Amino acid sequence: MYEILEKLELNKDVDLFKIKAPLVAKNTKPGNFVIVRVDKLGERIPLTIVESDSESITIISQKVGFSTKLLSKKEKGDFIEDVVGPLGEAIKIKNIKNLIAIAGGVGAAPLYPQLKSYHSSGTKIDLIIGAKDKEHLLLMDKFAEVCENIFVTTDDGSVGRKGFVTEVLKERLKDKSYDFSITIGPLIMMKNVLLINKDYNLPTDVSLNPIMIDGTGMCGNCRVSINGKNHFACVEGPDFSAEGIDFDELISRQRYYKDKEHVCNLRLGESDD
Ligand code: NAD
Ligand code: FES
Repeated sequence: MYEILEKLELNKDVDLFKIKAPLVAKNTKPGNFVIVRVDKLGERIPLTIVESDSESITIISQKVGFSTKLLSKKEKGDFIEDVVGPLGEAIKIKNIKNLIAIAGGVGAAPLYPQLKSYHSSGTKIDLIIGAKDKEHLLLMDKFAEVCENIFVTTDDGSVGRKGFVTEVLKERLKDKSYDFSITIGPLIMMKNVLLINKDYNLPTDVSLNPIMIDGTGMCGNCRVSINGKNHFACVEGPDFSAEGIDFDELISRQRYYKDKEHVCNLRLGESDD
């Protein structure tokens, strides 16, 4: 059993949990994730480790399905049945001078540990971060510590530029030369970022965390076709070079479980959004 040391409701849809897990914490590297099981009958939830210290890890969870809504009902002092990890391949820090990072919504959470590592190795980082509205922008204080410039967009214009991150990206790439890009957010956003970056021959990494289910290489859901070859996000990733990823296949697969989620949400007395 793993104790929740701290819980913060970052907005109505997203919670941050600091969990006591010394063995996981000691071995964590940027890019790793854990599998969380809320109770004995719970399903497995793969979540990126956002930060760690000598005895605890921090994860950020968006209430999108039955299990993340169950997790959200836990409070400081409560216990979580299982926290397994660290899992996945840690990121390999490349020698990069100027990096442009693009975060969409809750994708900011897995992006932060990567940018922190690049900042520590001397990379200059510009960040474009977008969300539905002001409340859904995550970790802004932390990003300010590791980024040179931050460009904000919101879908409703409540702060920053009104519109999608991709509109700002087009302008930035006209203005300044970068040697690498990392983007994490909704699949459709990462697909569109890649299309823009291609015009500038800008190598781009993405995270395929959202297509994972069991996180062990057993369920097959995180299969991703890259240049026609199958790979598994939970074993070989979750971070990949975006070149050649079949995003359309991933987007259609992400809809598989919508009906089952609907039934589970009815059991919890929650809506589907
Ligand atoms: P969201 O739908 O609010 O989108 C966040 C931002 O992405 C938007 O503000 C916009 O700037 C950009 N965006 C959205 N659609 C776009 C489009 N068609 N073209 C260009 N830009 C677009 O995001 P949310 O609700 O916070 O995030 C949920 C999604 O993020 C889920 O699909 C989840 O699976 C995914 N996610 C991805 C990762 C990852 O590792 N890639 C991690 C966590 C969550
Ligand atoms: Fe199931 Fe990777 S998440 S095989």
